[in-house]
Amino acid sequence: MIDNLEKLHEEVTGRLERCASEEEIEQIRIDYLGRKGGKLTALMRGLRELPADQRPRAGQELNRRRGEIEGLLETRLDDLRRNRGRPMDQGPRLDVTLPGNRVERGRVHPLTRVTDEIIDVFTGMGFEIARGPDVEDDYHNFEALNIPRDHPARDMQDTFFVSDDHVLRTHTSPVQIRIMEQRRPPLQIIAPGAVYRHDDDATHSPVFHQVEGFMVDHDISFGDLKGVLTLFLEQIFQDEVRVRFRPSFFPFTEPSAEVDIGCILCRGARDAGNCRVCRGSGWLEILGSGMIDPNVFGFVGYDAEAFSGFAFGMGVERIAMLKYGMDDIRLFFQNDIRFLRQFPP
Ligand code: DAH
Repeated sequence: MIDNLEKLHEEVTGRLERCASEEEIEQIRIDYLGRKGGKLTALMRGLRELPADQRPRAGQELNRRRGEIEGLLETRLDDLRRNRGRPMDQGPRLDVTLPGNRVERGRVHPLTRVTDEIIDVFTGMGFEIARGPDVEDDYHNFEALNIPRDHPARDMQDTFFVSDDHVLRTHTSPVQIRIMEQRRPPLQIIAPGAVYRHDDDATHSPVFHQVEGFMVDHDISFGDLKGVLTLFLEQIFQDEVRVRFRPSFFPFTEPSAEVDIGCILCRGARDAGNCRVCRGSGWLEILGSGMIDPNVFGFVGYDAEAFSGFAFGMGVERIAMLKYGMDDIRLFFQNDIRFLRQFPP
């Protein structure tokens, strides 16, 4: 009987190797394990006729083989399902001489990379990192930043409203308010994160990223603002980047300044008129900044006579585009592997 079992096993293996469909596998199952007429089933029935002392060993052996055959059928079925559509009966199933598939290595997304660089420079100067919610209430996104309802300054930011009273934050500045509500100076904070505006073209994306920063203590001056931001820009854009502070307006700072760097492409050369990056001005706007408006201190309950501070905000996409010489912001969000591959791992 043991010999018979061995033969059955070989038969099954042979047939399985040649079969090419689930139906054929099912047929093999019926032929060997089927309740009626299955060859292995028949052997099991035959156990009764064996002398009593041989029965236990033969029974064990039969069960073992049965398990084996069930396993073979199962494996082959899996195989077939996985390779559906491929010819199974032509040549070897696995060509070990084929070159393997290279596993694609991941990259840090350029926006993450630039954000990390910005964070590194500021934490190096003693700033800590804070975060706030993406869905922000009107009070933190506008009111407490000295932008009252119906004030024309709200036009500066095309807002996505979630409800009458909640917006997708249009900037990271509300994190200033949230931190100052909870803590007392001295504060040195940066707040990176996504922001949202109804704007969509080659240089504007409805979702983009900012890094906000601020510093509050006794006697913080515009000189501190200039020092910190100049040092920051020198580190991010390396070599001797030229920096200029230009008077501007933001509702939450007074005075306010926009910060420009010398154009990194033409460097303000004589034929800069054709420069596609700065359009001939020789300068690129990089940051908004200013001394925190006393009204803002009023909203968070700070004594504006005792404390002063500066704040700034910058767009991560803009900095990344300048660093990497890009002219379309949408490349960041399309996840085209060819774009991402250009950045070192
Ligand atoms: N929140 C401003 C914006 O998104 C950027 C900004 C300007 C932030 C000046 C500041 C600041 O903290 O002082 O346009």
